[in-house]
Amino acid sequence: MKLIKNLLKKIRAKLYHNSDNNIYYGEFIGSVNFWRLVKWNFLYFEKILFSIKNRQIKLINYFINKFKIKKIKNTFIKEKLQFLNNNGFIVLENYFDENIIEKIIKDNETIIANLKSQKRNENSYHRFRGVPLTDNLIKIWLDENIIDIMENYLNTKLYSRMYPAINYTHCAYERTSKEIHTKKIKEQVASYWHVDYTNTISVTVFLSDVDKSKTRMQVVPKSHFNLNSFFKISDEAIEESKKSVVDCVGKKGSVLIHCGNIIHKFKGVSNSDRLQLTSVFSSGTNLALNVNHISSCLSKNFDIDSLDTRKRNLIKGIFPISIRQGYEMQNEKIFPTSYKGL
Ligand SMILES: [Fe+2]
Repeated sequence: MKLIKNLLKKIRAKLYHNSDNNIYYGEFIGSVNFWRLVKWNFLYFEKILFSIKNRQIKLINYFINKFKIKKIKNTFIKEKLQFLNNNGFIVLENYFDENIIEKIIKDNETIIANLKSQKRNENSYHRFRGVPLTDNLIKIWLDENIIDIMENYLNTKLYSRMYPAINYTHCAYERTSKEIHTKKIKEQVASYWHVDYTNTISVTVFLSDVDKSKTRMQVVPKSHFNLNSFFKISDEAIEESKKSVVDCVGKKGSVLIHCGNIIHKFKGVSNSDRLQLTSVFSSGTNLALNVNHISSCLSKNFDIDSLDTRKRNLIKGIFPISIRQGYEMQNEKIFPTSYKGL
């Protein structure tokens, strides 16, 4: 069975891409070309089925959201949601006050110092998952406006997929996809065009100022409408498409929200690093439940059940709620106990 599966895997990979050229080579066989994406989605139909099941065909949601936006009264949410719906990303410039950002940095100075001490003379990515929860961190991680924007955008109930994380990225070399391919470089940072999960949405809070002269994220606006493949995309494919590329920049406290299906990459600038607080939300799949991260998040004795109902429900996939009859195992999977009696 495994042999047949592997054979089928190879056959469809060959049917999708047979010989390398200047645009499609090595691992960089993802595309923005309409007909190539049609071919990919025909061969790798599971992704479309997954997107349909999660109601995450972005073009359909675009029209649903467009109608919904008209009814939103809060002008801030209305405006930002409209931009996100049209482009697949948005930067909320100077959204959080610098004082609260400084407090977060101070509260986590040991974690940050430790991440920075790991930097090597290479492009490296250092992440601390499960930042200890405090009232200030909750204000940033589960901000009401940001949650509203994302929930409206995904057009489904929103769940936190990951524990809040602090990321420190060090860039030693600026790299092109051709260079990564020819020199067989295993990059730790995603310095190549790619998409994340279709049904996720990511929030990045800048803990350091980011401008065009520094290491930053770049996106291809409106590429979230594509039924994108999971392959990496070469710089040449983006250049050939003549699609515009936008730098996601802003001062400390600015917030970048990006749809998982938008084409994006880490744009490194030599000897320029970045520090961010990141979190990811989803329509309820890919929840990265992890007991070590729970323990880390609660290490400052934060009372998770003191959160209001909306916030508590939002994170229940990664901080399961205690239930009266507890859980039961069914085929190695955990479910709430079905028999409610004694
Ligand atoms: Fe990514």
